[in-house]
Amino acid sequence: MEKRAELYRGKAKSVYATDDADRLVLLFRNDTSAFDGKKVEQLERKGAVNNKFNAFIMEKLEAAGVPTQFDRLLSDTECLVKKLEMIPVECVVRNYTAGSLVRRLGIEEGRELVPPTFELFLKNDALGDPFINESHVISFGWANAEQLARMKALSVKVNEVLSALFSDAGLLLVDFKLEFGLFHGEIVLGDEFSPDGCRLWDKETRKKMDKDRFRQGLGDVIEAYEEVAVRLGVPL
Ligand code: TMP
Ligand code: ASP
Repeated sequence: MEKRAELYRGKAKSVYATDDADRLVLLFRNDTSAFDGKKVEQLERKGAVNNKFNAFIMEKLEAAGVPTQFDRLLSDTECLVKKLEMIPVECVVRNYTAGSLVRRLGIEEGRELVPPTFELFLKNDALGDPFINESHVISFGWANAEQLARMKALSVKVNEVLSALFSDAGLLLVDFKLEFGLFHGEIVLGDEFSPDGCRLWDKETRKKMDKDRFRQGLGDVIEAYEEVAVRLGVPL
């Protein structure tokens, strides 16, 4: 496999073509952004931690029957993935209230949601990733009804698998964001799963162990990511 030209530079990852038209290289950078790219900093070791964290989680999901984009680790900061045609919609599952839900509905943080909620956002930084509903996805053609149903079912499955995994490590999976794409017509989980795109709280103390430490200026961001990785048994 040969890495070729950079195709796309995101806020935290860069995407490269390869000599295989069906495969891409993802490079996890140290860049850390919040508030739709308005706050950006370099955090030492983040690229490597998130690359290895993502590999560990994607392999667990694949083993549980969730089709993922992930193929294999290539280096500390790179992995090989299937080339998906991305659906520009973010799927968010919440087990506890936090973040934009708290602001939108004016409720307190940390209330358990039974059953978990499923929300959709349009992936568009310029518009601040606006909240959308299922009819928008279908009417604007971002996905059809069958694809959307599959995205929702897979999001629920991911929640079941990962809530149990994090719980065994003494962590609450508060919420998370997934992105899906099409690989030869099949809905496949894309992007990444790391503490950049989810909320994790210590079960006992409710200490925040995810990107909220960066968003809220709490400090020790990567130290928290590394502690989560160690608790899960992710080889760093
Ligand atoms: P929110 O509370 O800001 O809507 O975020 C819900 C979850 O989704 C949280 O774990 C952070 C994650 N997320 C991202 O990773 N990227 C995004 O662009 C957004 C809006 C949320
Ligand atoms: N990843 C998004 C950004 O950089 C949103 C966030 O995580 O707060 O702006």
